[in-house]
Amino acid sequence: MAADPGGVHFGAAREDAWRACLWSRIALRIVEPLASFPCQSGEELYEGVRSIDWSPFFAGGRTLAIRAAGQTPELNNTQFVALRTKDAIVDQLREQTGARPDVDRDDPDVLVFVHLSRAHAKVNVDYSGGSLHARGLRAAGAVAPLRETLAAALVRFSGWQGDTPLCDPMCGSGTLLLEAAGWAGRRAPGLTRRFGFERWGSFDAAAAQAMTRLREEARAAARPAPELFASDLDPAALEQTRTQAARAGFTVHARRLALRDVTPESAPGGVLLNPPYGQRLERTRELERDIAGLLERFGRQRRALIVPVGFPVWHGTSRWLRVFNGALECEFRRYD
Ligand SMILES: C[S@@+](CC[C@H](N)C(=O)[O-])C[C@H]1O[C@@H](n2cnc3c(N)ncnc32)[C@H](O)[C@@H]1O
Repeated sequence: MAADPGGVHFGAAREDAWRACLWSRIALRIVEPLASFPCQSGEELYEGVRSIDWSPFFAGGRTLAIRAAGQTPELNNTQFVALRTKDAIVDQLREQTGARPDVDRDDPDVLVFVHLSRAHAKVNVDYSGGSLHARGLRAAGAVAPLRETLAAALVRFSGWQGDTPLCDPMCGSGTLLLEAAGWAGRRAPGLTRRFGFERWGSFDAAAAQAMTRLREEARAAARPAPELFASDLDPAALEQTRTQAARAGFTVHARRLALRDVTPESAPGGVLLNPPYGQRLERTRELERDIAGLLERFGRQRRALIVPVGFPVWHGTSRWLRVFNGALECEFRRYD
């Protein structure tokens, strides 16, 4: 296994890659690298893509989409790159089978990524089938929810081990608590969704059976989650948290409370926090004081929060990590 800023690379047997889709809480996507080759021109791109055997993906008639990114001095138009890639795949399949796959930009069976950088092309195929943050559970209309993958990453960053209760005193729709409960309760985050590889031509009846077995194993792995304490000023947020928890099969103690009134007596255990950003200055100052007070009161517990870079409450931060929350540069901060 190796990590770089773009992702984590690992070698795996086919079923382990499926398992990774089922169980990964933090990855946005899982892709399989198909080829990597020197590439400066459209011709080299075409030949490189054509040298991959595409028939297993498209057996039985499957739809296709290409996403291109990056550039070389000669190949600096991503639309052209996507087009040449598509041509190479379509030409190969037409020659082999006489049939050509249709393009479906929005919901393809086979999604291919081409990435150009430093006169090199990388061709990957999407295992996940859409971003893995979509757990298939979230109701529409949540207020400023954290992306599930980012919430799951904060849970792991916090150092909370899953063996004590957990509290989110600005719970919103409850994403942090539910990701934490899912991890501690060994609920496979991908159990209720389908994956890209399940739509490939090579995914035959035997593969489907193997995948059903993996889902059954995942269901059997579930264990009880710790107690969850949610509070928020907004009654609508509490309602969302209750609904989301019920959908995910967890119970949560949800109460309407201002941050400054939350104490370890009313909500014991670790604390995770995702405060609102971008408010008026005087409201921000008050919030900073309330957060500092909360960190103090819960001084014997694991505490972690996600705040925009520059947020002034440090309060003995023991670890921090830069992350992006959408386009906003933020930090995880952990207080031990
Ligand atoms: C960014 S949202 C949290 C989103 C949540 N992490 C999620 O994924 O759905 C911040 C929440 O803090 C709540 N809030 C703002 N000020 C508060 C205060 N003083 N006390 C308690 N809750 C507050 C808001 O009602 C809002 O639901």
